Amino acid sequence: MQHITNQSLLSFMVPNEQQGIAVNNPATGDVLGFAPVSVEQDILGSIERASVAQKEWAALPSKSRSAVLLSWYQLILDNKEDLGRLMTLEQGKPLAEAQGEVLYGASFIQWFAEEAKRTYGETIPTPSGDKRLLTIKQPVGVACAITPWNFPIAMITRKAGPALAAGCSFIVKPSESTPLSAFAVAELAYQAGIPRDVLQVVLGSDARQVGRIFTSHPLIRKLSFTGSTQVGRVLMQQSANDIKRTSMELGGNAPFIVFDDADIDAAVVGAMASKFRNAGQTCVCANRFYVHSKVYDEFVSKFSAAVQQLKVGNGLDEGVSIGPVISAAAKQNIQSLIDGAIAQGAQPMSELRTLDGLFMQPVVLKNVTHDMDIIANEIFGPVAPVIKFSDDQQLIEMANDTIYGLASYFYSQNIHRVWKIAEALEYGMVGINEGMISNEVAPFGGVKQSGIGREGAKQGIDEYMNIKYLCFGGN
Ligand code: SIN
Repeated sequence: MQHITNQSLLSFMVPNEQQGIAVNNPATGDVLGFAPVSVEQDILGSIERASVAQKEWAALPSKSRSAVLLSWYQLILDNKEDLGRLMTLEQGKPLAEAQGEVLYGASFIQWFAEEAKRTYGETIPTPSGDKRLLTIKQPVGVACAITPWNFPIAMITRKAGPALAAGCSFIVKPSESTPLSAFAVAELAYQAGIPRDVLQVVLGSDARQVGRIFTSHPLIRKLSFTGSTQVGRVLMQQSANDIKRTSMELGGNAPFIVFDDADIDAAVVGAMASKFRNAGQTCVCANRFYVHSKVYDEFVSKFSAAVQQLKVGNGLDEGVSIGPVISAAAKQNIQSLIDGAIAQGAQPMSELRTLDGLFMQPVVLKNVTHDMDIIANEIFGPVAPVIKFSDDQQLIEMANDTIYGLASYFYSQNIHRVWKIAEALEYGMVGINEGMISNEVAPFGGVKQSGIGREGAKQGIDEYMNIKYLCFGGN
C-alpha cells in the first residue's frame, strides 16, 4: 500500500477477498487491501491458546510486563506517521487528528505500563484478635474486546493496556471497517516482545458470530465493549449466562450548555472541539446545544462563522478538518435527522450543500426545540442543533432528559453555578469551560444506558483484576 513507509506494519495482509475482507477508503471508495478473517474453529483455537499463554504472562514479574508494554509504547510513537496515514486511509479522519489519536492511543499503553507495578492489595484491621485479613489482586484470565471504527487504535489500547498490565491475555475483534490499524498496532506489540498468543486480533465474517463466541466461551472471563447501547445490551444479556464480567462504553447524547455569564469566545472554541472532532463521530461529541437567551444570538453567529471555516475533504489533503462520515447508511441517517429538524422549524445558519460520496457539509441549526427528534437521537455527524433556554432548573431537566449519561459540557464563570450544575448533571463526565475531556489519566465512562465500568485512570486496571480476600486464622 502506498503512503506506508514501514511495510512490516502490513505483514498481516492477505492477497484477496477469498482469504480476507476488503477494506475501503471512505474518502474515495477505493479498496485499500484485505484483512485476514478467522472462521469459528480458528477463533476457538485462539481462545485456547490465549488461556495457556495467560498463565505464563501473569507469572512474569509486573516490572517485566511493564517493560514490554513500554517498548510497545515507544514503537507506536516511532511509527506515528505511518499509523496515522493508515488510519486516515481506512477511517477518513484528517491526518493531524489521526496522528493525534495514535498519541492518545499510545498514552494508554504508557499509563498502564506504569500502573502494572501498582496493583496494590490492602491489609484490613481485624474485628477479632485471632485473625489477620488482607486482599490481593489477580488477573481475571482471558479478556476479550469488541472495538469500534471511530477510534481504530485508541479504543483498542485503552482496553489492551490495562488487560496486559494486569496479567490477562487479550483478544480483540476490531470493526470490520477499520481492521488495518488494529492489526498494524498489534504487529508493533509483537515486535516489542508481547507473545502472539497473549495479544490477538481476530476478525470474523460475521460480527454477531464473534460476539456469540466471546460471550459464551467458558475460558473468556471478561468482555469489554465500545459501541452502541443496542449492541451492548445484547452482549450483556449473552454474557449473563456464565456471569462474565463486562465493561460497556456505549452511546451518548451530550448536552453542551452556555450560560449568560460564560466567556462566549471560549465557549465557541470548546464547542468546535467537542462537536466536530472526527466529523462529529464520537460518543462524547456535543450532541445538542442549550444557550441562554441573553447570549443566544451572539453564540450562534460566532459558532456558525467558525463552522463555515471548516474545510471538508480527503483527510490526507492539506488543511482538511472534516473527513467523510463512515458509511452511506450513516450519511443517510444524519441527513434524515437534519431534514426532520428543518421540517419541524429549525433553521440552518449556512447554505446546506449536498456533497458527493460520504462527505457532509457541517452546519449549525438554530431555532431548535427540545422536543425535536434530532435532540433525542445520537447524531454522530457534523451538525449542531442549538436550543434557547432562560431558566436554570428547566435547563437541567432538559439536559438530563435522556436515557444516556456519558459526557456533558457547560460554560459559566460563576463558581456557585458551576458547582450546582456540575452536581446536577446526570453524566459520568462533565467538561466545565472545556470541550476536550479525554485523556489517559482520567476515568472515562458513563452512567444510565451509556454503560458500566471506567477506562483509563487508576480505575481502568481494576476492570481486569479480581480482588481475593485472604483470612489468616490462628494468630
Ligand atoms: C468514543 O467516542 O467512544 C471515545 C471518545 C474518546 O475517547 O474521547
